[in-house]
Amino acid sequence: MKTTLYNKIGQLPQVAELLRQGQVVAIPTETVYGLAANALDGQAVLKIFAAKNRPADNPLIVHISKWDELIPLVATIPDTAKALADAFWPGPLTMVLPRSSAVPDEVTAGGDTVAVRLPAHPMARAIIEACGLPLAAPSANRSGSPSPTTAAHVLTDMDGIIPAVFDGGECDVGVESTVISLTGERPRLLRPGGITVEQLEEVLGPIDIDPSITANIHLEQVSSPGMKYKHYAPQAKVTLLHGSREAFARFVNQQVDGVALCFAEDADLINKPTLCMGREDNPKEIAHNLFALLRKADEEGITRIFAHCPKREGLGLAVYNRLIRAAAFDERELEQQ
Ligand code: TXA
Ligand code: MG
Repeated sequence: MKTTLYNKIGQLPQVAELLRQGQVVAIPTETVYGLAANALDGQAVLKIFAAKNRPADNPLIVHISKWDELIPLVATIPDTAKALADAFWPGPLTMVLPRSSAVPDEVTAGGDTVAVRLPAHPMARAIIEACGLPLAAPSANRSGSPSPTTAAHVLTDMDGIIPAVFDGGECDVGVESTVISLTGERPRLLRPGGITVEQLEEVLGPIDIDPSITANIHLEQVSSPGMKYKHYAPQAKVTLLHGSREAFARFVNQQVDGVALCFAEDADLINKPTLCMGREDNPKEIAHNLFALLRKADEEGITRIFAHCPKREGLGLAVYNRLIRAAAFDERELEQQ
C-alpha cells in the first residue's frame, strides 16, 4: 500500500473521505499522533488493531470535536465529567465513562465503558469535523514502540501499512493524554499525561491513583489494559536511575558503555554521550522531547541507555510512568553520599 502524506488544509476533504470510507489515517493531536478510524464502524476499527499489531483486549480512545458529540457515545454524564470538560477540554484529558450501544465492541474491547477525548490540536478537530464522525485513535506507533510526535515518526512505523498521514507538525505536549475513570464511586487516575494530578484535584478534590501507574503490579489487576504491556520501549536496554546530579553522573561515568538520557544540568558532569531531555526544572520540555529521544536512540543504533528520573510530580509523573515502562521496570536508587 502506498502511504500519502497530506499537510494542507485544502486536503482535508480527501482525508475526511478516506475516513468516511472506513480507512485508517494518522492524524496529529497536541499529545502524540493518533491512528484514526470511524469509531462507529467496527470493521474500520479492526484495521487500526491490524496496522499497530495491537492486542485486541486493549480498548481505544474516541476523539470528538465538540461537547455535544459526547452525548450519543455514553450512557450517563456524571457532574464530574462536565466539570472536567469545562476545565480541560479541548485538551490532553481522556475520560472513561459508561458506554452507550452506539459504540462498537471493537472500540471498548467488549467492556462496558468508553474512553473519550476532545483534543486541542486544531487540525485534529478540523479532521473530525470534516468527516462528521467520532474517531477512534490510539497512538500511531507499532504496538510497544515509543509514541510518534512527528509525521516522520509515524512513517517510520506505518509507511506502506496505512493509506495516509496528515502532517500537522511536531506535537506540543509530547506524552499522551491523562486517562481518568469516572465510572466508580471516586474518580480514578488510570494513566498520567498532559493534565497533571494537581490540576485534576483542583477541580475534583482528592482522586484515586491506580497502583499500576507507578508499580509493576500483577498484570490481571490492571484497570487500564494499555498499562500492562511493555511499552514505549526503544531497542536499547534502559535503566532508570534515581538520585542527585552527582550520583547519576558518577554512576554513568563508571559504565563501560551506554548513553545518558539526562537533564541539561547533568550534561557537563558526564563523560559519555548524552541525549538531553531538557532542563530538570522544565518538565514541559522534558515531556515534549522524551519520545523523540527514544526514537533517536533507535536511529543511532544505541543499545544501552541510563535515564535520569525526573521528580514524580506534575508532568514529571507522566514522564516517570513512560520511562519505567521503557525500562521494563528496571529502576535503581543511587547512593546519595
Ligand atoms: O494522547 C492520547 O491519548 C493519544 C492521542 C492519539 O489521543 N492516544 C493514546 O491512545 O494514547 P492509546 O490507545 O495509545 O492509549 C489509550 C489508553 C490505553 O492505556 C488504554 O488501555 C486506555 O487508554 N483505555 C482506552 N479505553 C479505555 C477504557 N474504556 N477503560 C480503561 N482504559 C481505557
Ligand atoms: Mg499508545
